[in-house]
Amino acid sequence: MQLNEMVSFWQVSDIINDTSLNNIIVIHTAVILFLVVVYYKIVSRRKISLAKRIPGPDGFFFVGMLPVLLGGPEKLLKNILKIGRKFENTLFKAWILDQLYVFPGNPEEIEAILTNPNMFNKAKLYNVASESIMGDGLFTNRVFDEWKNNRKLVAAGFKFSMLKSFIPIFYEEAKFLSQVLYEKRDSNTNECEISCAIGMATMEMIGRTALGVKFNTQKNAKHEFLENLHFIQKAVEYRVTHPWFLNRSLFQLSTYKRKHDISQSIIYRFIEDLVQRKKTELKNRINSQGEHNEEWGQDTTALAIACSIFMLAHHQDIQNKVLEELLTIFSTGDPDRPPTYEDLQKMDYLERVIKETLRHFPPFPLFGRNVEKETVIGGYLIPAGSSVIFCSGRIHFNANLYPEPEKFNPDHFLPEACRSRHPYSFLPFSGGYRNCIGMKYAMLQMKSVVSTLVRSYRFSPSDKCPKPENLRLTYAGTQAFVDGCYVKIEERV
Ligand code: HEM
Repeated sequence: MQLNEMVSFWQVSDIINDTSLNNIIVIHTAVILFLVVVYYKIVSRRKISLAKRIPGPDGFFFVGMLPVLLGGPEKLLKNILKIGRKFENTLFKAWILDQLYVFPGNPEEIEAILTNPNMFNKAKLYNVASESIMGDGLFTNRVFDEWKNNRKLVAAGFKFSMLKSFIPIFYEEAKFLSQVLYEKRDSNTNECEISCAIGMATMEMIGRTALGVKFNTQKNAKHEFLENLHFIQKAVEYRVTHPWFLNRSLFQLSTYKRKHDISQSIIYRFIEDLVQRKKTELKNRINSQGEHNEEWGQDTTALAIACSIFMLAHHQDIQNKVLEELLTIFSTGDPDRPPTYEDLQKMDYLERVIKETLRHFPPFPLFGRNVEKETVIGGYLIPAGSSVIFCSGRIHFNANLYPEPEKFNPDHFLPEACRSRHPYSFLPFSGGYRNCIGMKYAMLQMKSVVSTLVRSYRFSPSDKCPKPENLRLTYAGTQAFVDGCYVKIEERV
């Protein structure tokens, strides 16, 4: 193009009015989008053709089932379960933008995936967790040998003798928690929001048992570390429900990014300080990679403890049975004594209550694996590059596995009921290669706290949340309360 021709081009542009310019922009964008779609369809034609054979909702052109995510994090699980009901006990697929997700529908499919070494890697969604605070720790590690070594090191911290030594700490913090809750309650109505105080207590327990450090979170409700941890979780939730921000470059443009980075550096600094102090004390005994994972452990047990208390408040008959069991266990010796390991092992009924709570409110309601190579699952060839997402609720509310699944019934976990079910019918701790390493720790901690609280107080429904279905939970990587967890607290006489 000659210089004079260019000049005349710009002169012509000047006289094009705004509407025509807008039209040109819209047309160009549409053409670019069309070319992107065509390019994507060509390079992914095998994935697309295999996906067509898998049952699942059709979704919308290009965006697939994106509207399910745009419904917000509170509706996410309900929406997935609603779609799942249309596909009964079989797996189904859903496209979200260019990502293919497959949701297994029965315990057999789940076992086949979780025990398959070729499906050891976590789903791509976990990149969000590694980019926030998880780094390459045990939870997100993608290299099998590295993960195996890390797992061995972290497992050493969960040996029986170690776990046993944690019980007095669990009890001490649980006693402190009961005092905090009592002081926090409204003295006229006895109403109390229990989730924040429980979160502080479990944080303190993790600090003392895993790092040997007192955060003093129970005494300092506005802890910088916790506040920033909560913000990071919010950012994870935001990225998962606005999946274009899963792309790291696009996330750079989001308003969350700056605050995310500040929170991330505060958390890292805090952990590094702790680790340095601890390393000096314990001469490098602690494996620093494992520590990034512990914060999520405290969140999960906090949710489970709060939900157990909430369900006991709403089921007085079950609460009475828990109390009866505790009175029997503590009938010998000082009735106010701390629990021993043996006492906790005798709390069979309480264990069933906690398991039933985890069935209703699995703290990790979604977790996933990456399909590295084409793999047959449930009779369908699943294309490489897709993600398998386990939605525990699909299994936990299956009436073939749990009769009257909506009912809160600890007898779902009677030994004979468990024996008659497939072992992968209960998924709060996942299973197979990468199951929860903190499962025994969590169970001892939850039993210690719930038993200590029930020994001190009678819990009943709060007017702020009169029915179990009024409890609002949202998805933030783990499940989290939308507006707290309210019950009434009365001292036992
Ligand atoms: C009720 C409490 C808990 C629940 C429901 C829970 C649940 C889970 C689940 C579902 C996974 C697998 C996630 C996946 O596959 O992506 C997991 C892994 C893990 N959990 Fe837990 N967890 C709990 C408590 C804890 C505690 C207390 C700790 C540590 C103190 C912990 C440490 C870990 C670690 C390190 C992993 C990664 C294991 C690996 O990839 O090898 N968890 N947890």
